Amino acid sequence: MAIPDTFLEELNARTDLVDLVSGYVHLTRKGKNYWGLCPFHSEKTPSFSVAADKQMYYCFGCHKGGGPIQFVMEMEGVPFPDAVALLARRVGMEVPEERGSGELRRRRERLYQLNREAARYFHQNLLAPEARHALGYLTGRGLSRRTITNFGLGYARDEWDALIRAMGEKGYDKRDLLDAGLAVKNDRGNIYDRFRGRVIFPIIDLRGNVIGFGGRVMDGSTPKYLNSPDTIIYNKSKNLFALNLARKSKQGRIILTEGYMDTIALHQAGFDCAVASLGTSLTEDHARMLAQRTGEVVVAYDSDRAGVNAAQRAIQLLGKTGVRVKILKVTGAKDPDEFIKTYGAQAFQKLLDGSESQVEFRLAQVRAKYHLEEDEERVACIQESAQLIAGLASSAEREVYGRRAAQELKISAETMQREIARSQKRRLRWEERQQARRVLQPVQLNQPSERTLRYDNMRSGKAEEGVIALLLNDPSLLAETRGLRPEDFTVPLFGRVYRLIWERWTEDRPVSLNVLGPELSGEEMNHLASVLQTPISQANRERAMADYIDTIHTERLKGERGQVDDAALMAYRDKKGMEEPK
Ligand code: UTP
Ligand code: MN
Repeated sequence: MAIPDTFLEELNARTDLVDLVSGYVHLTRKGKNYWGLCPFHSEKTPSFSVAADKQMYYCFGCHKGGGPIQFVMEMEGVPFPDAVALLARRVGMEVPEERGSGELRRRRERLYQLNREAARYFHQNLLAPEARHALGYLTGRGLSRRTITNFGLGYARDEWDALIRAMGEKGYDKRDLLDAGLAVKNDRGNIYDRFRGRVIFPIIDLRGNVIGFGGRVMDGSTPKYLNSPDTIIYNKSKNLFALNLARKSKQGRIILTEGYMDTIALHQAGFDCAVASLGTSLTEDHARMLAQRTGEVVVAYDSDRAGVNAAQRAIQLLGKTGVRVKILKVTGAKDPDEFIKTYGAQAFQKLLDGSESQVEFRLAQVRAKYHLEEDEERVACIQESAQLIAGLASSAEREVYGRRAAQELKISAETMQREIARSQKRRLRWEERQQARRVLQPVQLNQPSERTLRYDNMRSGKAEEGVIALLLNDPSLLAETRGLRPEDFTVPLFGRVYRLIWERWTEDRPVSLNVLGPELSGEEMNHLASVLQTPISQANRERAMADYIDTIHTERLKGERGQVDDAALMAYRDKKGMEEPK
């Protein structure tokens, strides 16, 4: 591992989690724990808890949890090493230089340099006399020379290795170009330029590094756009085109588009707050990045079916972050680029001023689902609309949208309000039940949300949770595991964690959820954090361990009944003095 876990352990010990979290969330103490409104999902009653003694947080609503490092990763949207560096700075520790991480850093640095050189090369190409047609293509699409310079647009010549040769002269070899995604290797092992005969759009991150490229054909051939693959410096799901420019905008919002050309056309027309999600659908990371930088996101996707669906998805993701979301309906054009070209910047500004709030958009979506001429369908539509409106936070909103929905659906405002009130009651009851469930049976009995973490055997899974919780609480209990092996676990995650705990324990290294962090995915960390919420009785730990292990063995033998005969099971039970399970 890149960062020694003794360092992580110390970092964790020196960080005051309550203090750290308080920088983001207003916490109130209740008993042993602190509670607040969860920063990872929107809610009105606190389900987010911080256990100071365990150095852990956990949200009973969205099931996110972990230690200080995970908290910083989630809040700041940064990868593990960055979160460590951030926390280290906070408590005045210096992250040890490790060979592995230093090498990776140098490698990344080299690829940044290479991409910068490549971008410069593509741009010079575009201005060369031989590329007249490429420059003509861009200006023909309405881009000014200034815009072309601002975005550093370029041209990749229609040759197999123009870039490879040009970069070779600057000291970069084919390996470098492959790693940067600028070259590709075919089945026969030949390496050639990825981008050929295309206009080039460099993708620049928030630190100003060129991290990737998109290339568009200038005729009707396919694929229309070719993009850099994910590399050690480019992660599509964590970067947005032109966010480096948009974040400096003073317009108080960010306009989210689907494409390079939409974003560039908007910037040229004075909307310097446009970004693009580039062909990949919007991710949670994108949503969080946007919400961190602005109070309002205007979704300006294409007006076709795919665009509307993508917008729907974007609303959901953005909605979770709490940022205000508006939908811009690009009518009379297929996308913002075409709209501006046809109707001009002022018309776009009008569109922007009048862009629908997400509620109106969602209500329109609901209406589109039903055949309103038919009575039954109309009733269903009224109910679904009422349900949607009932979920709005303020009574003013419920009033306004209720009235509007009534008009659209041709019923009286009173009837609509009654439907809304009924929906609200139902919703409240449901929330109360949920709340009660949460209190009565924290996490237990609930299947993990992530599919790869589903338990095949619930009894065994729960016992495995118990073993892991006990061990992470006090690794010396390994002495009580009586030959339990990692392969005895039915949940692969627990088997893996068990093995890790053993390895660390025998090597005399620290064992805790926090040092296991680098070995686990975000989902896995959340799940372990939820497992650790179960209170552990200090008095009966050995007894509890023995019970869990018996359950694991019994369940395993039951599962193997097909192969192993019942006699073996009986013999085992006899030996243990166990009863027939009910
Ligand atoms: P569009 O097909 O809507 O393209 O794809 P566009 O932005 O309007 O492009 P122009 O106006 O025809 O030049 C939207 C985005 O999806 C990605 C690109 O990022 C594009 O900007 N895309 C599209 C691809 O990655 N590959 C493709 O083949 C097509
Ligand atoms: Mn377009």
